[in-house]
Order: sequence, then structure tokens, then C-alpha cells
Amino acid sequence: MTVTEQFATREAVRRAPATQATDAAARPRAAGPGPLAVLADAGLEVPVLGGGVVRHVNLDVAASAPAFEVVAQRVTRVLPYYASVHRGSGYPSQLSTSLVEDARLAVARHVGARDDDLVVFTRNTTDALNLLASAVPGDTVVLDLEHHANLLPWRSRRVVVGLPTLEATLDALDAELARCPAALLSVTGASNVTGEVLPVARLAEIAHAHGARIAVDAAQLLPHRRVDVAAWGIDYLAFSGHKAYAPFGAGALVGRADWLDAAPAHLAGGGAVDAVRVDGVDWKHGVERHEAGTPNVIGAVAIARALAELERLGDDARREHEEALTRRLHDGLAAQPGVRVLSGFDSGVEGRRSDGSGHGAVDRLGIATIELERGSVGLLAAALGAEHGISVRAGRFCAHPFFERMATRSNGLRASLGAGSSADDVDRFLDALARLVADGPAHAYDQSPEGWCPRVDDRPRPRFDD
Ligand code: ALA
Repeated sequence: MTVTEQFATREAVRRAPATQATDAAARPRAAGPGPLAVLADAGLEVPVLGGGVVRHVNLDVAASAPAFEVVAQRVTRVLPYYASVHRGSGYPSQLSTSLVEDARLAVARHVGARDDDLVVFTRNTTDALNLLASAVPGDTVVLDLEHHANLLPWRSRRVVVGLPTLEATLDALDAELARCPAALLSVTGASNVTGEVLPVARLAEIAHAHGARIAVDAAQLLPHRRVDVAAWGIDYLAFSGHKAYAPFGAGALVGRADWLDAAPAHLAGGGAVDAVRVDGVDWKHGVERHEAGTPNVIGAVAIARALAELERLGDDARREHEEALTRRLHDGLAAQPGVRVLSGFDSGVEGRRSDGSGHGAVDRLGIATIELERGSVGLLAAALGAEHGISVRAGRFCAHPFFERMATRSNGLRASLGAGSSADDVDRFLDALARLVADGPAHAYDQSPEGWCPRVDDRPRPRFDD
């Protein structure tokens, strides 16, 4: 199936080659924010179909964010000292050990952990929530708006279907916990599909009122908003380095020690044990119980440096920057015919910004998922990338129940932004979207089980070998 068959107005004018994509802001626009921070992909140019290059626009930050430049620099400085952790006698080994332990303290400080909370380094949020799932002594209640990482690990889970308003949804959770006790309420801090932010402190009160603990999937929230474990009453917090500008393969689970000390070791192996006999094992307690094998030193260092950078940027500045771009994005999408923005909650609920800003009543991160009245979002995403150098994501975003509750089509297209994003990025996306929806792509594409691909892809690939 070709592009032509997929776009309603496909027979219209063939677009100019995307090498002209940088001039796409034909409509005059107000000036807006530039990037708040320098990321490792700043100024990256990517090839487009038909020849030429354009400045890359990264609107796929919710999936995985580039490293902060300072994170890349820190990793480069640390690498010569990289060595075995906890068991080596040499200077680099002892330094590597202290870097991991310093990173643990940095995570605890950044998220406002209690003094006796554990900070277990994991691979990512999914890994962290799988670890917690092995420790929960009873049912877990979740909302249907969760990412699969916060739906699938729970062995005994009860799913509450969200309602049109946030208030009604909180009431439904309250009623479910009252109806039948649960050990844990596990919620996302912010949806990876809509960017809608949940009131974590209120959810903690609800959970605790019914004798449950609360876990927060902060994969999306932590890189964009301040989180405070102790002040908000969070019992467990999970997040990923790769969404927090530290893409070196580490994440963390922060929280109360008792369940984790009673759980089976997350990985069985060296470092997790006090003693091993032919007929038995004495497992350690604390973080070591769940961190068998050689830890990801570089990943931990990267997370610590990224969190320091988030703190340096400041909560207010981060919020202000992303809110301005989010408004620009949502306002632009609202003005685009043939496009519908997905929301989990209706307007007029708790969380409305005091300035009444027009991107929705619930506080939102810089994420917008759209569906098209006609045509394929997969094709649209492919054309944005191949012809305009704009990265987005199409699909159901590992949140199938939530997506299916909101959407009328089988897939959506998500644009997501972060500290490296600018008004020019948003404008480039909106202009390219308008052109593609109106005219269709300029090149032919074919659909395969892996998605849409240019029929002829003449974009060169960089060589990384020496
Ligand atoms: N969880 C990531 C996303 O939402 C991969 O795209």
C-alpha cells in the first residue's frame, strides 16, 4: 500500500524536497523559547530523501532522551578510571566503587528519599517495577492509563478503568481500595501518551488511608518536574536514566527496605550473598541483595550527573520552558484540521493552571499524541523523519488499554519535548505536519510488518568505524 492510497488529499501538489524543510515556517510566528540545556545531539544534521541535510528535530524525547552534554563529558572523564566494583583492591576499583555509592546518595537526595530508603540501581523503570513486583505482599491496584511497565509486572493486579475527569478517577480508585484491601497502589506520575500529570501526593493519601503503599512510575515525570518522595508520601519510586538525559543503561528503584529485604534477590549471583554452601545460601539485605553481578558504574555516574544538571537548571525554569513549548504545540495542533489530540481527562478538573493556559485543564508535560481523521500516522511519522528530519513516534506507546479507551483509530502519533527543545522545533513539526496532512508525502513509501519505509531510501549512513 502506498502513500497515495493512505492520504485523503494525496493527489494534490508534490512537495518540494525536504532539504527545504528548514524554511517550512512560512507563516510568521511569534518568537519563543530556545533550548534550556545543551544536549549531546545539539545541532545534529540528518540526511533527507532526495539529498541534502536538515537540522534534526527531536520530538521523541518521551521515548528516550539524548544525554546532556555535561553527562557525556562526565562519562568520558570517568572512563579511564573504570574498574571492578566492591571487590577490587586497586585505586581505580576503589574509585569506581565510590562513584557508584556517591551516585546512590545523589539519587536519594534528588528525589527527597527518607534516610532509611534503599536506592537500588536497575536497568530502567521496567526493571525497577519488576523488582518491586516480586516484593509486594498482596494485590496491586493500578489505573488503566499505565504504561505496560506498570501493568504487566504485578502478579496480582486489579485494574481500575479511568473516568472522564481526574476527580472521578480518584474517587474510583478510593472506592476500589475501600471495597477490597490491596498492598499497593501503583500509578504513573505522568502519562507517556498524553503527558497528563497525576496528583501523586493526593494519590498517596488515598492509598495510605486504606492501608496500602504507593509506588510511582516516574519515568516521564522525573525528567520534567521535581519529585519529592518523603514530602509526597511516596513509598516507592521508579525511573529510567535514558529518559532523564542519562542514556547509559541504568535506572533506579527508591523506597522502603522491609519488602525489598523480604523479597527474593532480583538477580541471583555474586555480590547478593553473604555465604554460599552446597546446601544453602545466606542472602544479603539492603541494596546488595538486588544488585548481583557487576553494577553499571557508568550508568550510575551518568544518572547522578544528569540529576545535578536538572537541579542546576532549576524546577521553575524547566517548568516554564516546557510549559511555553507545550502550549505552542497544543495550540498549533488545535488549529490543525484533520487532527485530534488525545486526552485522558476532560477539562475543568483539578490541576488547571492559574493563568488558564490553553493546553488543557490538567497539568501536562510536553507530550501530545494525535490521531488523524484520515490516513496513516505510521506513514506520517515515516515522512516526518525521512523528508523533514523530524523524529516522533507512532503506535500505541506500550499503553494499549489507555490508548484504546481514548482513541478512535488503531494508532497515534506522539510528539514529545524536553530541555533541549525549542520553539523552532515545535514550529518545524507543526508546519511539516500541516503540509503532509494537506498534500501527502513527496516520496513513495511501502508498508511492512516493521512499519512504513521509503521505497527508495537514498539517505547515506555515517560510518562509525575507525
Ligand atoms: N516507554 C517509552 C515510550 O513511551 C518507550 O515511548
